Amino acid sequence: MNFIPQWVIEKKRDGGALDAAEIRAFIAGFTAGAIPDYQMAALAMAIYFRGMTSEETAVLTDALMRSGDLVTFDAWPRPTADKHSTGGIGDKLSLMIAPLAAAAGLAVPMIAGRGLGITGGTIDKLESIPGYDTRLSVTAFKRVVAEVGCAIIGQTERIAPADKKLYALRDVTGTVPSIPLITASIMSKKLAAGAQTLVLDVKCGRAAFMRTVDDARTLAQNLVRMGRALGRKVGALITDMDQPLGRTAGNAVEVLEAIETLKGAGPADTRALTVEFTARMTVLAGVHPDLETARTLLARLLDEGRALEVFRRMVVAQGGDPRVLDDARLFPQPGAVLEVPAAHAGTVAFVDAQQIGQIVLQLGGGRTSVADVIDPAAGVDRLVQAGDPVAKGQPLMRLLAKDAALAESLAAAAAEAVRITSEPVPERRLILETI
Ligand code: URA
Repeated sequence: MNFIPQWVIEKKRDGGALDAAEIRAFIAGFTAGAIPDYQMAALAMAIYFRGMTSEETAVLTDALMRSGDLVTFDAWPRPTADKHSTGGIGDKLSLMIAPLAAAAGLAVPMIAGRGLGITGGTIDKLESIPGYDTRLSVTAFKRVVAEVGCAIIGQTERIAPADKKLYALRDVTGTVPSIPLITASIMSKKLAAGAQTLVLDVKCGRAAFMRTVDDARTLAQNLVRMGRALGRKVGALITDMDQPLGRTAGNAVEVLEAIETLKGAGPADTRALTVEFTARMTVLAGVHPDLETARTLLARLLDEGRALEVFRRMVVAQGGDPRVLDDARLFPQPGAVLEVPAAHAGTVAFVDAQQIGQIVLQLGGGRTSVADVIDPAAGVDRLVQAGDPVAKGQPLMRLLAKDAALAESLAAAAAEAVRITSEPVPERRLILETI
């Protein structure tokens, strides 16, 4: 029978399950430009409302993955592994995990994303390092992974191009928060990048796609099932995204905090999750025998500066200026820095990640459309965390802006993002569930 795109849309609209040939033909037509954006968007909306079976999601993932090149690491001397986050505020974990995993003996070919909306992106962060090239060819990408142990690049035109096109469309048609579409999107590019082991950070909370643990669990289970069905070793953690991670949110500021963590310092939450995710990768990939051993050895690699050295070599191999590791002034600098004082004394009860994300966005550190240009120096730093004692007038954070007027216009909103209490504050649970 002839393939008629509107029949496929109607079938899904009416709650039917699509067969493999229909999904493959639709994605092939969309990739080639034969199926227009409006029909793809209509199908995405039908999937948003009607969902997909695991079989349909597996075919969609495979079709998106095969829309471009498949990077392979066959006969590679080290096990390959990667980590992916569904995105959060202050989430700079990939910047530490890739070099730490490489220092532990893994090869990490990481394809990361850009920030969109309030969620930051690893690629934007890395591009705040002068000269750092996130657009390596697949050949150069593999060469850096071979020489250094890890490389971090953006999604190229050659890797899962149909996902890139579809994601941009979903972003402007209200069809991002759909579990089958997110699953296929994430897994298609991660699987195309070739790593055999994959650990997923599914963020959950007010600043995440998944607001509830139930939704996050469903997404995590789908991602894990999909990866295993396609022959990879996959694990997932559900982590809290009600509050930001670390004490910075933005781009250059987050790279600076990552460098501090790679020097064996950095905020405790950032270090703990770096070690935990990397431990899951090394154990799943068979480099370490168990999590306890992995945590001990990885903590030592951080403290000895071995992961920092891998990061330095990755920066050099990708054309970046490695002097930023020792001199923060070489990063892009904000035009104005404004301290936001505490209105009263007490203990920090909560820092609202969604509000902090919106402030970073308005400071110019994020983008509302894919075409926006970000200000790499914009963001917040020296951010208090839940449990910190504060005196009246003490800074809750610093706003880094292009000029003083912009910073001042956001000071009241920034103060409101931090709740201060006189009651005892329970310790924050960073990991909500293991899948
Ligand atoms: N990240 C992706 O890469 N795709 C999605 O659909 C959502 C988050």
